[in-house]
Amino acid sequence: MIDFASVQRIANQTTNRFEFWQEFITYSQSEVVAEVGVFRGVFAEKILRHCTHIKTYTMVDPWRHLVGQYNEVANVSDDTFDSYYKETLRRTDAFADKRVVMRGTTQEVIDQIPDESLDFIYIDGDHTLEGITIDMIKWYPKVKPGGFIGGDDFGTTIFQMPLKFEPSPIFPWVVYFAKSMDAELYGLPHWQFLLVKPPVHGQKEFVFHDLTGGEYFDTSLKSQIVRGPLWYIKKQYISPIYQKVRRLISNSK
Ligand SMILES: C[S@@+](CC[C@H](N)C(=O)[O-])C[C@H]1O[C@@H](n2cnc3c(N)ncnc32)[C@H](O)[C@@H]1O
Repeated sequence: MIDFASVQRIANQTTNRFEFWQEFITYSQSEVVAEVGVFRGVFAEKILRHCTHIKTYTMVDPWRHLVGQYNEVANVSDDTFDSYYKETLRRTDAFADKRVVMRGTTQEVIDQIPDESLDFIYIDGDHTLEGITIDMIKWYPKVKPGGFIGGDDFGTTIFQMPLKFEPSPIFPWVVYFAKSMDAELYGLPHWQFLLVKPPVHGQKEFVFHDLTGGEYFDTSLKSQIVRGPLWYIKKQYISPIYQKVRRLISNSK
């Protein structure tokens, strides 16, 4: 079991997502760990180096260009994914006895994972509505009661990428998922989330703790849609022009 004060302490004492999860996985003594969406293996390497108590670390990623899904900036070419796959193996070679490599999408590999076998899973694969829906629903039964689902890109805007890509609705989708499962959920700094799967005996109640000091105060999708494109256009186009004009004016003085 974990407690609120400890999660809060770890969030306050760490300065990026890598440090947070290194400390959390150590604190929770999670031994059977998985990561969905591995890319170049940066996260896997950091966790394996720091959390020496881990017994198995399963890495799930197709490492191939996906057609008709995963409309995201990270959906690179087959050749690039091949090199990322090799890079991941290189980075985690020192932990070859602990690592389990599954080269496939969630749907392609999920049946190989026994139910209630994972202490902790980090979900960082396909961030589209399709992707997060499949990942949360397919992986949830694979986590032990009282175990944890961590995840990335729990962004305070669904418009994290250029508009030609799909939005990333991880926040608030995961909030609704936690609610439907009567699970405890933490909104963390660095756009991370932590869901605690209710134990068999004990508390089974949805609670959403916002540990960012208020970034996640509005869990409606509407607020993001109203603010989203305007926020994006301002950030991407108007602010750079404004900055450029300001620089030109101050240089000409
Ligand atoms: C943002 S990257 C992961 C970054 C990595 N977790 C890190 O922190 O270093 C996303 C990865 O998700 C993978 N991916 C995309 N769709 C997937 C799916 N359906 N199942 C599993 N992985 C997927 C992509 O191939 C890509 O490598």
